[in-house]
Amino acid sequence: ALAIKVDYRLSGLMLCGSTLRHVGEIFLREIENGLAERASSLQMENTYIPELPDGTEEGVFLALDLGGTNFRVLLLELQAGQLVREDVKQYHISDALRLGPGEDLFNFLADCVLDFLQSEGMEDDELSLGFTFSFPMRHHSISSGELITWTKSFKCGGMSGVNVAGLLQRCLRARGLRVTVQVLLNDTTGTLVAGAQADPDVAIGVILGTGSNGCYMERAERVHWEGPHKRARDVCVDVEWGAFGDNGCLDFIRTEFDKEVDDNSLLATSFTFEKYIGGKYLGELLSAVLGGLARDGLFPAPPARASLLSAHVSQFEEENISGAWERTAEALHDACGAPVGRTDALIAQHVARVISNRAAQLVSVCIATLLRRMSRPHVAVAVDGSVFKRHPRIRSLMDKYIALLAPHHRFTLKGAEDGSGKGSALTAAIAARLAARSP
Ligand code: BG6
Ligand code: GLC
Repeated sequence: ALAIKVDYRLSGLMLCGSTLRHVGEIFLREIENGLAERASSLQMENTYIPELPDGTEEGVFLALDLGGTNFRVLLLELQAGQLVREDVKQYHISDALRLGPGEDLFNFLADCVLDFLQSEGMEDDELSLGFTFSFPMRHHSISSGELITWTKSFKCGGMSGVNVAGLLQRCLRARGLRVTVQVLLNDTTGTLVAGAQADPDVAIGVILGTGSNGCYMERAERVHWEGPHKRARDVCVDVEWGAFGDNGCLDFIRTEFDKEVDDNSLLATSFTFEKYIGGKYLGELLSAVLGGLARDGLFPAPPARASLLSAHVSQFEEENISGAWERTAEALHDACGAPVGRTDALIAQHVARVISNRAAQLVSVCIATLLRRMSRPHVAVAVDGSVFKRHPRIRSLMDKYIALLAPHHRFTLKGAEDGSGKGSALTAAIAARLAARSP
């Protein structure tokens, strides 16, 4: 009887096949509206990257990676498209910088580049830089674009309409650095490009990390271009699916728990789809659901705010797979401040399962829709991010749901690494190649 009551409370989080297919149809409609520049919750941003690595990429590049779990500065060397050297330094971004004036954040980024180059003894060198900026942008070219809105845990002021590559360039110049921002890219794009270097079938890049998003190779004639078209056949489009449904078209899947997670987030009502999937939100969703069960007397006590993380979702899932419950109970005791027994721990594992399953279903709807739209014989999907890497079941769930939703399309999910490092260096090399070719 308890299990029935719990499942009744969770039923809004359990999506059936026909609902998923319906979400896929809406996703396709939003894709088409976005590409045609009609009203859409999907931005469908032209990244101005019209080709993928061809094995000729050479040189030494700097890369910056901002927007995932870690902020990193990297120095990379490519020979014949292969990465032969990679030095990395990680820097901590304080809350004050993430939430303060944008100028301060970008000055800090330039300070980190200076510090990194000093530690490499390269502060006087002339270098090209690839800036992986994992936020939605309005691109004007491969090397310039404006921030549209902050997402995840960043909310700096004074950034609207500012060209982020230009701002970074100014801050670097002000430090006397001879570094040129050669490309501005999204982490999904870097993931696609890095993946395509290893496997030419890669034509979709996906991040399943703090946030979630994807990009894919679209036919260039379907995409809006500023300036000359350069006769490209395909171009990489950044979907920005985190914002899918922000216009209300997906309200029918939104539960009271999702509303609670959204209300408590840094940027409420924005990037609501990402809040069903991203690692920044899965722990909060787990908390919101357990809190709801506690209110109904189906769970001992509500977890304290921010006490459960997406790492707990993964941990509960892992323990569930191995048939144990003790560590789950211990973590819940800490989070709820009340004793938690075996039945309660199993309920929490069940909730973790339900929300992980929905996250996998929704990201699979997006990937399956892209596969169907692209209709290539086989597409490899490069996937990176902490949720994909650490969640014990997400990958097999995605394999299952994508196959169900795109039964006539062959695909392979490939764990990709280092989109923002290797991917950004490769993209910088591609940009140099394009520039050398243009009249
Ligand atoms: C990294 C990529 O591995 O994954 C980054 O190199 C990307 O570019 C990141 O932003 C996303 O994952 P997370 O979990 O750090 O948000
Ligand atoms: C957010 C950003 C998007 C990024 C994703 C994954 O959705 O808006 O640009 O790709 O997070 O990091």
